[in-house]
Amino acid sequence: MILEIRKYPDPVLKKKSAPVDDFGARLKQLCDDMLETMYANNGVGLAANQVGVPIQVITIDVSTEKEQHVYRLINPILVETSREKNEYEEGCLSFPGITEKIYRPAKVKVRAQDTDGRVIFVEGEGLLATALQHEMDHLNGVVFVDRMSPVRKTLHNRELKELKEDYKKEHHK
Ligand code: NI
Repeated sequence: MILEIRKYPDPVLKKKSAPVDDFGARLKQLCDDMLETMYANNGVGLAANQVGVPIQVITIDVSTEKEQHVYRLINPILVETSREKNEYEEGCLSFPGITEKIYRPAKVKVRAQDTDGRVIFVEGEGLLATALQHEMDHLNGVVFVDRMSPVRKTLHNRELKELKEDYKKEHHK
């Protein structure tokens, strides 16, 4: 099922997500729905609070033509980050129309659980490293705009204002 994506400035995006301890069918369904929602919106990653469920779940698909790389990660934590940094033009489904270059560690190692609760480790570089960090930020209530330098952020003032106005209209405030 395709879910509604919560857009800036929806307060759920600022929420810290709760750890997951119930690894049942509902969790698996949420992951499938998140992936379906992601694909429908041409995204590579999604955090559960972006569909209004503030629990520690992220989905990522950085598959190429040759290899499939789909991740459903529960309770992910960063265990290693490289000193070397990388710049990527990031976007976010909760901030339609905005992209910006963000510096982040180039390589990361993440400890997480799969949808059955088994501990797994994911090591990523390039787009995967960026996606992991971007989505894990969401779980802490941090969005990529928060990672922009103040000067860069002002370049997006107009778009951010428009998103705020759209949100107000949709919520009749
Ligand atoms: Ni995002």
